Amino acid sequence: MSFLTGLLKSVVVVVLIVAIAIPLRYGSTDYPYLRARVAHSLLTFRYSFASDPDRPHLTAEYRAFETLLRLRPLLADHLYADPSQAIKLLRLHVRSNNVSPKPSECQIDKEVFVHNQHSTDGFWINHPPRTFQKKIDKLLLYFHGGGYVFGDIETYRGFECYLSQLFNMTVLHLEYRLCPEHTLPAAIEDAVAIYRAILNQGVSSSQIMIMGDSAGGGLSLLTTQALLTQQLPLPRGVIVLSPWADISISSESYTRNKDKDVMLRFDQKEWLIEQLLGSNASQLSADHHSVSPLFGSFEGFPSLFINVGTAETLEDDSRKVFAKAKEAKVDVTFEEGEHLMHVYPMFFGYFPEARRTLENIRQWIQTKFDQKLNT
Ligand SMILES: *[C@@H]1O[C@H](CO)[C@@H](O)[C@H](O)[C@H]1NC(C)=O
Ligand SMILES: *[C@@H]1O[C@H](CO)[C@@H](O)[C@H](O)[C@H]1NC(C)=O
Repeated sequence: MSFLTGLLKSVVVVVLIVAIAIPLRYGSTDYPYLRARVAHSLLTFRYSFASDPDRPHLTAEYRAFETLLRLRPLLADHLYADPSQAIKLLRLHVRSNNVSPKPSECQIDKEVFVHNQHSTDGFWINHPPRTFQKKIDKLLLYFHGGGYVFGDIETYRGFECYLSQLFNMTVLHLEYRLCPEHTLPAAIEDAVAIYRAILNQGVSSSQIMIMGDSAGGGLSLLTTQALLTQQLPLPRGVIVLSPWADISISSESYTRNKDKDVMLRFDQKEWLIEQLLGSNASQLSADHHSVSPLFGSFEGFPSLFINVGTAETLEDDSRKVFAKAKEAKVDVTFEEGEHLMHVYPMFFGYFPEARRTLENIRQWIQTKFDQKLNT
């Protein structure tokens, strides 16, 4: 009898831990998210007893996250089995595997921005809640990644809320039009339109930083190049995480780092380019500077921060942008994450390598805002 009671008590304790303590610990009741967190904790525990002799400086937390991605790849091959379904499946897959949920106290407000009869959606993100004062406050205009084919406020708000809190800035998320429904340059038109719209609202360009990751990093560079061409006032600075700067996928790192990259594979290169450029693929070539900023000019760029991992296929995109920016005498900072994956700072909740780079970016932003402009 007492044995049974004891067993029952143990079961109750275990159920309580699973049902209450874990959701409390991670601030969420989303099952796939909690499953990932628990798997990550268990793997971290295991790796804390086993070092990686080839990569001794990586934390157990990082290696655990990397293993999780290997077990459950973001861009699994089966997604491409039927090309007509691939994008739809990809979007569903990404949504149902959100790695950073939105903190409940983070405030998000939608606004429809209109410029020259062109309307585009934006989301103001404030963590903690506050009101953006247009004439004074600093603004981070954020362009999300996702190969120009997926990503939205739902998949990015967790990360953007974190940035708002860490940088002590209001973040403005752009919901740009995605491919293949809206092929390039639709996304660039949306980005320039929202920038013009906020300038028209009375925000000064010197209050604005533009930031983006992956395709959003490419979009940040393309947008800055478009602002230069259109002779618009430039933002205070531009920050890019693993920017996809060459959609023709021509760099050597695409093959060199293929086996190390746990996130991106470009086995479907022609298919992907066709999604981005649509029926114009033959007219608008993928290595044209209007869609691949690497082949455009960096002359006259504002301060630029580039971050990339050395275990990713996009490594050389960043190295080449860095070299071109330096050649053009841009004030450019380059931070490489040795042995780290594509857009690793986005996984700030899982490993310290991510938080360290974001802290460096925070300090960089502060320095750039503190500098006196000579314009
Ligand atoms: C955050 O920014 C506001 C102005 O936007 C400023 O008043 C406040 O002191 C800043 N907080 C910190 C911790 O720097
Ligand atoms: C596609 O090509 C047509 C005809 O050359 C052109 O009018 C149109 O602007 C192009 N679209 C894009 C998105 O480049």
